[in-house]
Amino acid sequence: MADNRVNPVPRHVAIIMDGNGRWAKERGSPRLKGHEAGAQSVRVVIKACRDAGVEFLTLYAFSVENWSRPKAEVDGLMRLLVRFMDDQEHELHENRVRLRVIGRLADLPDVVMNSLNRVMERTAGYTDHQLVLALSYGGRTEIAHAARRIAEQVKAGTLQPESVDEACVAANLYAPDIPYPDLLIRTSGEMRISNFLLWQLSYAELYVTPVCWPDFREPHFRAALDDYARRSRRFGGIEPEVKR
Ligand code: FPP
Repeated sequence: MADNRVNPVPRHVAIIMDGNGRWAKERGSPRLKGHEAGAQSVRVVIKACRDAGVEFLTLYAFSVENWSRPKAEVDGLMRLLVRFMDDQEHELHENRVRLRVIGRLADLPDVVMNSLNRVMERTAGYTDHQLVLALSYGGRTEIAHAARRIAEQVKAGTLQPESVDEACVAANLYAPDIPYPDLLIRTSGEMRISNFLLWQLSYAELYVTPVCWPDFREPHFRAALDDYARRSRRFGGIEPEVKR
């Protein structure tokens, strides 16, 4: 069969890990069981990225809107993050993955931030792969935060209003050094972006699978990469290109 791949492996994959609650409900389990099972999928996908040569993996782990969930679920998710850092740090080292976080980090409990900071410091030297956790993250919040930083620079006289362009906004996002996602995967079938990486996803290829996040495994990830490989990326132009 002819191989009609036009894109190489995506450099950056972003994932909306949806369907933990539904997965748990189908099994008559509390929602937290779905999140716990979802943590196992996180592990699998980190390794799959390493094996496939994906450089950046950004996971939507907790949105600014998620704070409105019942306290027990929020607390459980925070505990799960700490436990994940404790249990999985060695795998990040084995896979030579640098941990990063983006979001309104001041919202996070100290115990979570301490745990993240510890792993970020210890993995800071790895350069081949990066795991970016979006925590207390909102795309609109991020853009508003960038606008505020730009306004402060204009007020201080270090930036001229006529210098505010796309590159200037991009430079004031949470992680300006990270290339924009090439591929966005959303699990459990919903066709929404849900306030995730609004600026950065402008030209990302979207891939939605009906599989709930806790069931997402390497073959599902491979299927998403294969689908991406056959997309024609034009970035508003007419000739296929592979780089932004
Ligand atoms: C969305 O499913 C998922 C979340 C809000 C949390 C994602 C968190 C994890 C996968 C836990 C582990 C993460 C790390 C980084 C260790 P949902 O609860 O909205 O599902 P539903 O739409 O079926 O209700």
